[in-house]
Amino acid sequence: MSKVKNKKLKLKKRNFLVFLIVLIIVVGSIAFSIIPKKETKKIAKTKKDIKLEQLENIDQKITYFNYKYIDRYINYKKENPDLDIKQIITDVNIGIDQKYYTNTKKSINLNTPQILVNKYNYLEEDYIPDNLEDIDLNYARSGMKLVNYAKEAFEEMAKDAKKEGYTIIAMSSYRSYTYQVNLYNRYKESDGAEIADTYSGRPGHSEHQTGLAVDVYNGKIDYTNFEKTEEFNWMQENAYKYGFILRFPKDKIKQTGYDYESWHYRYVGKDIAKYIHKNNICFEEYYIQKIEKY
Ligand code: DAL
Ligand code: ZN
Repeated sequence: MSKVKNKKLKLKKRNFLVFLIVLIIVVGSIAFSIIPKKETKKIAKTKKDIKLEQLENIDQKITYFNYKYIDRYINYKKENPDLDIKQIITDVNIGIDQKYYTNTKKSINLNTPQILVNKYNYLEEDYIPDNLEDIDLNYARSGMKLVNYAKEAFEEMAKDAKKEGYTIIAMSSYRSYTYQVNLYNRYKESDGAEIADTYSGRPGHSEHQTGLAVDVYNGKIDYTNFEKTEEFNWMQENAYKYGFILRFPKDKIKQTGYDYESWHYRYVGKDIAKYIHKNNICFEEYYIQKIEKY
């Protein structure tokens, strides 16, 4: 009898011991994994918080906010206290807090309407877009090429304009790297690099090399006065419906890096063009907010 009792007691003791060990392991691992983690998180968050406070506790849900650039956002805000936080982030992401032509990188999205070529993004010397085609001579000077889908959209646009009595003629479109070398050098010789940079892309940095950009005029008045023509007003109303945007608007000189050009249009596709038109932004802003991956 006592032997049985002893056995039962031993079993109870063993069970209790097992329970105790399991309890210690569970409590220990919870304490180890949760408590220290919370503390490290707290320290990291505090540092982050101090920086974020300088950006008015920016809503980090802004999808294009990139913590990597936090110090640049802070400095840019100090230099531009009147800009709203979205503009600060957009401008810094474009790169305009740093000198033009510094920190340049190779353009991505080659051979697509989402390609960005500007003072920070360049095309290599040997980049020639696929499927270049001549624009119909009814709507272009001779030898004007665009990428096939941009060419078709351009012809459709110019044709519809013509039906309403307006003349849209392409006078410069795809330009090779070498062509741009000669053009830019000529401008540089006559005006000096600083001024030439306000209106001409350096070789590799002109989006004319993408085969998606086109300069237009109305066949009568010099292209530099395109803004004064009825055709310009028609383009303002209609270009986006065909997938084209005014690429260098008057109020976006800082973001695009170029003076206003009423004659330079860029094919981006209908959806993007519509969004840009509706929201009154430039392609750099669209790119940063909608295309760039973070
Ligand atoms: N005129 C524009 C900026 C270009 O050269 O690409
Ligand atoms: Zn142009």
